[in-house]
Amino acid sequence: MSIEERFAELRRRNALAEQGGGEERVRRQHKAGKKTARERLELLLDPGSFLEIDKLVVHQSHDFDMAEQRIPGDGVVTGSGRIHGRPVFVFAQDFTVFGGSLSEAYARKICKVMDLAMKTGVPIIGLNDSGGARIQEGVVSLAGYADIFLRNTLASGVVPQISAVMGPCAGGAVYSPAITDFVFMVKNTSYMFVTGPDVIRAVTHETVTAEELGGATTHGTTSGVAHFAADSEEECLALIRELLTFLPQNNMEDPPVRPTRDPVDRRDESLQTIVPEQPNRPYDMKDVIRTVLDEQYFFEVQGGFAPNLVIGFGRLGGRPVGIVANQPAHLAGCLDINASDKGARFVRFCDCFNIPLVTFEDVPGFLPGTGQEFGGIIRHGAKLLYAYCEATVPKLTVITRKAYGGAYCVMSSKHIRGDANFAYPTAEIAVMGPDGAVNVLYRRDGAGDAAALRDARIREYREKFANPYVAAERGYVDEVIEPRDTRARLCAALDVLRTKRDANPPKKHGNMPL
Ligand code: HXC
Repeated sequence: MSIEERFAELRRRNALAEQGGGEERVRRQHKAGKKTARERLELLLDPGSFLEIDKLVVHQSHDFDMAEQRIPGDGVVTGSGRIHGRPVFVFAQDFTVFGGSLSEAYARKICKVMDLAMKTGVPIIGLNDSGGARIQEGVVSLAGYADIFLRNTLASGVVPQISAVMGPCAGGAVYSPAITDFVFMVKNTSYMFVTGPDVIRAVTHETVTAEELGGATTHGTTSGVAHFAADSEEECLALIRELLTFLPQNNMEDPPVRPTRDPVDRRDESLQTIVPEQPNRPYDMKDVIRTVLDEQYFFEVQGGFAPNLVIGFGRLGGRPVGIVANQPAHLAGCLDINASDKGARFVRFCDCFNIPLVTFEDVPGFLPGTGQEFGGIIRHGAKLLYAYCEATVPKLTVITRKAYGGAYCVMSSKHIRGDANFAYPTAEIAVMGPDGAVNVLYRRDGAGDAAALRDARIREYREKFANPYVAAERGYVDEVIEPRDTRARLCAALDVLRTKRDANPPKKHGNMPL
């Protein structure tokens, strides 16, 4: 073979890999409203930054005439690239090659980039679009999945792991995305479930479509499995790019600072009247959050799930922060099972990756009801408490109105190592609301209790306890502030806390309630 022929052979092999499953299958992929693995990587990564590895890897299976069907790359495109100039490792499953199903060689390719991500301290992003285990390979394929699950677990808390589900993801395959930090889905073209509609029909006689069972809307609102439900693949990939701007490359780094022209001492008069006079009237906590953040920009996470607790990212004085906030506009801001799970996982993520936590609090307590108690609100609520207690990143808290009962303790209170705890003059920090308190204290007075007397007692309790001053007198809040100064106070506190050092006792790991 001449040198020219050798070059030509390399080009031929590369071209074959780039064709994936061939024109017809690519056409089918497009017809289904989906892009190919390579098209997706082009949108995800900075232009021209993709460096592919293992492009010529082929599967090693011979059964079912597989020896005659070998496509270089074998169903997954892997390598590194850049997002906003910072390196990432990626894998993109290629549905046009054997339905993106996972072979031994394919799993090795994914493990290789995961290992590289760990060694170099770089985020790993997986784009999933697969029919699951390669049926022709049997248990070897299952072993490949387990190899990936192990790496997902070991990488957890070391480098950010992001999954996009952009096609089928079923059976045990769902557990790799589930272990990762953020799951993105695309409406109408992606689904995740452990057992599909056919098995469900046979076992429980329920009829359900794949989209209803495990589509982006279901996982973005009902199950909470997906953190983002995008309208299109383009939007999904753009959201991943944006999310990364808030995150460090690994657990040894601080998140990247983005200089801002928004003055750190900007006052906002609209906050003075944001908390309504009537204690039971709702307002939108997102208005408070936005007003306080740089450029009034809030990047919400899991916006469709458990809306009674708001989580997401923003910046204060250029530095990324994780926001956790009770939302009085939903369920009066009560903490329930879903909100506890949502908040706990987010708090733990921020703590893993050195992202300070800013908590906005207006919570009347945990949601009452048999549904919640039977569902284990005790064990779920304990997760949020545990997560806040364990977190050693800077923790800032603003109590806007209610901070009642156990929920007061949970929401980043001073007692669980809150670093800067502020309250508005409208704050009510107490064991419970005045109504409930009077019901308990004067229970023996019976139903005949005159309405006027009851009103007077409620007023008395409100004046005595439903304010921030009892807590302020004990140092449980550091400062009672005027709402318009929230941004200035938070930015100043964050600046002081930049050098915070705190640690938990050495141990193998805690036993978090799950
Ligand atoms: C090998 C597969 C495959 C698989 C799909 N293909 N899934 N090849 N192993 N698991 C191939 C098809 O034969 C077809 O090849 C091509 O991919 C496209 O598949 P279609 O069926 O034509 O596509 P579509 O109609 O879009 O349906 C997609 C699908 C369906 C819903 C994913 O293919 C399907 O049900 N596949 C089987 C899913 C499954 O049971 N997987 C194993 C689950 S168990 P041609 O040559 O015609 O293009 C599992 C366990 C993981 O995954 C365990 C982890 C612990």
